[in-house]
Amino acid sequence: MNCIRPKIHIVLIALICIPVLAGQSDKKTETLNPEYLRCEYLVNPLGIDVTKPRLSWIVKSSSHRQKQTAYRIIVSSSSGKLKKNQGDVWDTKKVSGDETVCHIYNGKPLQTGKQYFWKTKVWDKNNKSSEWSKPAMWSMGLLSPDDWKAKWISRKSMAVDQSKTKNRKLFLPPATYLRKEFTINKSVKRAVIYVSALGFYELHINGNRVGKDYFTPGWTDYKKRVYYNTYDITDLLAQKSNAIGAVLADGWFSGYVGGGRRRNHYGKDKYLLAQMVVEYADGTTETIKTDGSWKVSTGPVLEADLLMGEIYDARLEQKGWDEPGFNQSKWQNVEINGDVITGVSEYANGNISIKPVVQSYPANTVRMYQELKPVKISEPKKRIFVYDMGMNFAGMVRLKVKGKFGDKITLRFAERLNPNGTIYTKNLRGARATDTYICKGNDVEIWQPKFTYHGFQYVEITGYPGKPDIDSITGIEITSANPVVGSFECDNDMINQLYKNICQSQRANFIDVPTDCPQRDERLGWSGDAQIYIRTACMNNDVQKFFTKWLQDYTDSQRKDGQFSSIAPVLGFNSAGGPAWSDAGVICPWVIYEVYGDIRLLERQYPSMKRFLEYYEKICSPELLPPKKYQCFGDWLNINDATPKDIIFMSYFACSAKIMEKAARVLNKKDDEKKYNKLFEKIKSSFNKNFVDKNGKIKGDSQTDYVLAIVYDLLNKKKQKLAGQHLIDKIKSRKWHLSTGFVGTKDLMPALTKIGRNDVAYKLLNNTTFPSWGFTIKNGAKSIWERWNGWTPSNGFQDAGMNSFSHYSFGAVGQWMFENIGGIKAANPDFKKIIIAPEPGGGLSLAKVSYSSIRGKIVSDWKIINEEMTLNITVPANTTAKLILPTDDIKKIQYSGKSIDQTKEIKFLGIKDGKIVLEIGSGKYVFKIQ
Ligand code: BGC
Repeated sequence: MNCIRPKIHIVLIALICIPVLAGQSDKKTETLNPEYLRCEYLVNPLGIDVTKPRLSWIVKSSSHRQKQTAYRIIVSSSSGKLKKNQGDVWDTKKVSGDETVCHIYNGKPLQTGKQYFWKTKVWDKNNKSSEWSKPAMWSMGLLSPDDWKAKWISRKSMAVDQSKTKNRKLFLPPATYLRKEFTINKSVKRAVIYVSALGFYELHINGNRVGKDYFTPGWTDYKKRVYYNTYDITDLLAQKSNAIGAVLADGWFSGYVGGGRRRNHYGKDKYLLAQMVVEYADGTTETIKTDGSWKVSTGPVLEADLLMGEIYDARLEQKGWDEPGFNQSKWQNVEINGDVITGVSEYANGNISIKPVVQSYPANTVRMYQELKPVKISEPKKRIFVYDMGMNFAGMVRLKVKGKFGDKITLRFAERLNPNGTIYTKNLRGARATDTYICKGNDVEIWQPKFTYHGFQYVEITGYPGKPDIDSITGIEITSANPVVGSFECDNDMINQLYKNICQSQRANFIDVPTDCPQRDERLGWSGDAQIYIRTACMNNDVQKFFTKWLQDYTDSQRKDGQFSSIAPVLGFNSAGGPAWSDAGVICPWVIYEVYGDIRLLERQYPSMKRFLEYYEKICSPELLPPKKYQCFGDWLNINDATPKDIIFMSYFACSAKIMEKAARVLNKKDDEKKYNKLFEKIKSSFNKNFVDKNGKIKGDSQTDYVLAIVYDLLNKKKQKLAGQHLIDKIKSRKWHLSTGFVGTKDLMPALTKIGRNDVAYKLLNNTTFPSWGFTIKNGAKSIWERWNGWTPSNGFQDAGMNSFSHYSFGAVGQWMFENIGGIKAANPDFKKIIIAPEPGGGLSLAKVSYSSIRGKIVSDWKIINEEMTLNITVPANTTAKLILPTDDIKKIQYSGKSIDQTKEIKFLGIKDGKIVLEIGSGKYVFKIQ
């Protein structure tokens, strides 16, 4: 086998790299067909370490009320056997059942490093069998610590770290280059490599980059855990001489993270761990691993830091360093470490020893989402060029330049411009966000940094030889938010822009962990933001694995006393989250269960959820009132309408207790279910006794007060009605504007819906005056702003100390848009039963909303012409939907030109709250409502 894979060519056109839910094509068939096979919620995952993985698919059919009545799964040890339908590893035979999600593997024990091939076939409601699905596969990672033969290797840092001196001078060590050559003399059947690093790694084999991922192996609390990634490298190996190389950068491990220009949060030196297993055609195997035989050097990457940026001096390139035959005589020997890493962390009072568990990366990695062409170039000052990329995103740019030896091009990044057209960088705080390229003076040179990212819309270029043009830079947008599962469109441009901004800020902030912002020196996994936004996140992207990973980070952050941290992964320190922040540890696993039916995750998280509730019970008074002192961020960034901390504390305590009751029911923990039911009732009564007066007024009298009490069911019917009216009055007193911060905004619109005031919700959604979503859009927002007043015409930019233009929390309105404008909701966990209840209003006359659930694509598409509403609905096969229509007169509804009572396909269930309720099975439907 020859190494003939071409290097990746650079294509300068915008290109969507992450497809919309792969596999869900529109193929029409009368019967039922299984598609989109996934193992552990991933398509063909490599190197998983779940020994009883869960297998899922979706079924598709074009006919109505189609159902799966039985299925068969076969798992084979080779693709050849699978072709012949030999399930030598597992064959369920035909099993009755309509489940398509999370079939727990129950075949022969799965073995370290092995590949498994599987397919399924299903039987429909007429017991007619489908064809076999397309084959899928997964492979196992290294299942036992003993399987690791590789050693952590590194290069001892030479430079003096001055980051802790008085003036906190930046310390940015160069990237480390590692290499080794090896020979292959036999025919290779399959070769796989397992790679991890403390820091970031980029792996090369025979001159080719391995994989397309960024920032591997992801961010964890490295004191406890570090992940490895698995790559199939069979096609990259050559007969005879081969070379493997890796570039290591500080990353989250030892680079600058968070505020205050602090580095070395987990350790000082960066390490690589890699183990390649080559299976030969003759049945033998060979392992090539990181050990003392590797060589180390530096290279052209002089600085590589997430926050500060990258410097690349092309003159220092060592041609062929990642290919066989390279002269490595000037390279040094590596330092070897056992499984224990010792180093210096600024936060561990000097020396630390860490022994993280090494596990398989459990999620989708950070990848390129799309390439972006600049939309405008300006020259606000002589030889200072500013590019407008058209959107505020996270990533970097690829530079194209033809310069002389030593020409130095500097790129700086910003979200906004100063009035004079130069870039506004004050709000980046301590993040230098500057990339520099030094030309070697060849032909055209192309460069893209790999170990940094920025949150930006504008790029400033200085030092460019000649005049840069539209092709001189290309935006590279990166994200972990994939695949895309939602779509939204209506006939109001502002609302469409709002939807775009929500998706944009989600992509920009889902970078391995849910960060607060992508631009300033923070970019931390803030828990409050995560729980506030998670519901909306689920409607835009499939975030099941993303949160499976982050919830492990969050559990790792939990203190011994049960309190959760404000951020995860924690840095060297761990500060309490407090109400609405710490509750992420309870809310997020529950949302993931509701949306994806992931009981296993709920089970995994349950002990930590329980410990957290026990902590709350312990610190509260016997009446369950909050303790005298506790951490609380309040209703963060509200508009002069603060909510008392104890109201937020009690509401979230109640919310978490209610979730615990429901989680205990799902997990069949009867005693806990009762216990948390009682706890909820006790919090509720204490809340009413201490904070609510007889007129339904709540202490503090803020919008958020009422929102929380309504949404978390803290009031009886009568008080809820009164509180609802107070909420409306408060909104009215601000000329129909909201005043809520992070906490209140999450639930504001659902609260209005709950009290039957979608008219007011639409008013808020349509506002374009301050404060509102529309106001930000009127002022040029291409993303969700951290603050309602991030920039105002009268005051300009808010305090640069905290003013991000890409913060997703206020984008939590996305959930309401899907659930009310589109009307798509889950009636039970995981969308087996769906509710479609569009609520036209706010002057909209059309909406097209879709959501690809784990059971298939749901569409709600309506338009109103001359007071007649046409509603196109798609319900996935094997599910049913309750359709709630905005009329109470059945005669006004027509289905396919017929009245409802003339068709068997639709069941009339009754009239609720003045609306007709119908039950429909799977398929496509068109209704007309007069
Ligand atoms: C972050 C937030 C976070 C907050 C805590 C900020 O610096 O950007 O999004 O939730 O601190 O209040």
